[in-house]
Amino acid sequence: MDAISQRYLMCRPTYFAVDYAINPWMDPTAPVDAALAIRQWETLRQVYLDLGHTVEEIDPLPGLPDMVFAANGGTVIDGRALAVQFRDPQRADEAPAYRAWFEAAGFEMHDPKHVNEGEGDILLAGGLLLAGTGFRTAHASHAQLQEIFGYPVVTLQLVDPRFYHLDTALTVLDERTVAYLPEAFSPGSQAALRRLFPDAVLATAADAEVLGLNAVSDGRHVVLPAQATNLAAALRDRGYETIGVDLSELLKAGGGPKCCTLRLRQGKAGK
Ligand code: ARG
Repeated sequence: MDAISQRYLMCRPTYFAVDYAINPWMDPTAPVDAALAIRQWETLRQVYLDLGHTVEEIDPLPGLPDMVFAANGGTVIDGRALAVQFRDPQRADEAPAYRAWFEAAGFEMHDPKHVNEGEGDILLAGGLLLAGTGFRTAHASHAQLQEIFGYPVVTLQLVDPRFYHLDTALTVLDERTVAYLPEAFSPGSQAALRRLFPDAVLATAADAEVLGLNAVSDGRHVVLPAQATNLAAALRDRGYETIGVDLSELLKAGGGPKCCTLRLRQGKAGK
């Protein structure tokens, strides 16, 4: 399997904290080691650089502790960027900051008509746009995705509040296949996933409970939470190289490697 060199956007967790609870992982009374969070994030960034990827950074803003989760900043495909609209008011001010970054970086901007939380719920997999709904991204936004990006959209219904974003329940491994936790999806969505990806890697509950599916693949290397040892073994059996990273502090906000990483997909001309 060939690794594809990728371009990512990340946001240093300078102001990271767990001050509010908008998903079941977040407990504002539990201690968070902010300095450790930064070191863990720096390690993740260095893993990408060592793999030959490019990492761009957006400046973190005070008062936005979840801004580190850059995957929620937008959806960027073929040089077009769809800005986000968060469900929760606590994260609302992140949206214009990310929008301004995309615009300055030269992407063709599109504004959301409905709630959508970017690559947290919208994943490009082999020419299909897999779009989650049920907790954050509104089903109504899925039609807009297809109009903007021109890829067929597959709606996937999330049913377990612990796996509130699609990227906590499913990982795109390469052009052909994905890994996912079946029980995180409704019966109809499970059936659709079986038809689309008969060779998928099926994760276990234990893998998903450490956010093991919140992984980043370049087609060959899969960067995933170090605690997801079953999933890592299953991926190695399928020929992927796995790289475990410990993001224990960010996990307290319900985030893992993928949440911290927004893929920037350029247009054909490279701009
Ligand atoms: N605390 C953040 C929230 O609940 C975590 C976001 C994680 N991001 C992701 N792409 N799953 O919104």
